[in-house]
Amino acid sequence: MNNGLPRPVTAVILVAAGSGERLGYGMPKAAVPLGGEPILMHALRGVVASGVCSQVCVVLPADTDGLQGPLEEFRQELADGGPVLTLVGGGATRAESVRAGIEGLIEGIEAVLVHDAARALTPEYVFHRVVDSLAAGAVAVIPAVPVVDTVKTVTRTSGDDSAIAPELVTGTAPREELRSVQTPQGFRLSTLLQAHQSASRLDEAQAAAVTDDAMLVELLGVPVHAVHGSTQSLKITTPLDLIIAEGLLEGPLGIRWVEG
Ligand code: C5P
Repeated sequence: MNNGLPRPVTAVILVAAGSGERLGYGMPKAAVPLGGEPILMHALRGVVASGVCSQVCVVLPADTDGLQGPLEEFRQELADGGPVLTLVGGGATRAESVRAGIEGLIEGIEAVLVHDAARALTPEYVFHRVVDSLAAGAVAVIPAVPVVDTVKTVTRTSGDDSAIAPELVTGTAPREELRSVQTPQGFRLSTLLQAHQSASRLDEAQAAAVTDDAMLVELLGVPVHAVHGSTQSLKITTPLDLIIAEGLLEGPLGIRWVEG
């Protein structure tokens, strides 16, 4: 996998401060059990196992019930080596949580991967593709997969038309150009800092429309490259996603999972 180029000194900001409302467990998503362990711990083990970083900065929800114990045990496991583990508190939005993570970075970090804890089963090779692309000169790089569905734009119907159907199709996006975007998203630290500084100038509606870090870099006019992600990097959001993740971990099909 390695392109032979020296890799930048890298930190992973693992954002885990979301509420997880759509999962309906009544606890932060990071603490929801998956295969007997909190989702966060699967994500954290995946990050560390990839071996790409010198630091992992975990951005935690306000309610850390069920997380403190496993995190402390993991810190002890890491005592023999491995990346620096930093824990910080998150913000009200994902972007605020990323900024909290940036503030927790140690000296000497050159590149940052921002990773959603909700993508707990991301394969190691995705981390390597992102870091190798940074090593090859990318300043921003995202993992992405082709879209399998046909994607259309719609508008809400009104008047008599609304009795026919709630929405009217306005167009069909060219599928071969569309990608579903995942994490970890990789950036030169200076680029990520600049992107988040400019984000502070967005109004509330614009800020609410920002769903990933790459969008902020695009707004700077800086090129964002894409490497191939993995369908196994699903973002655990709904109860169905959790069932799929459990299946990938434990089910008879899970162990046969082969995808490059
Ligand atoms: O809400 P969404 O599913 O887009 O969240 C993606 C990731 O961002 C999750 O891992 C979640 O924990 C994190 N997040 C966060 N702080 C927030 C909102 C989301 O760290 N305020």
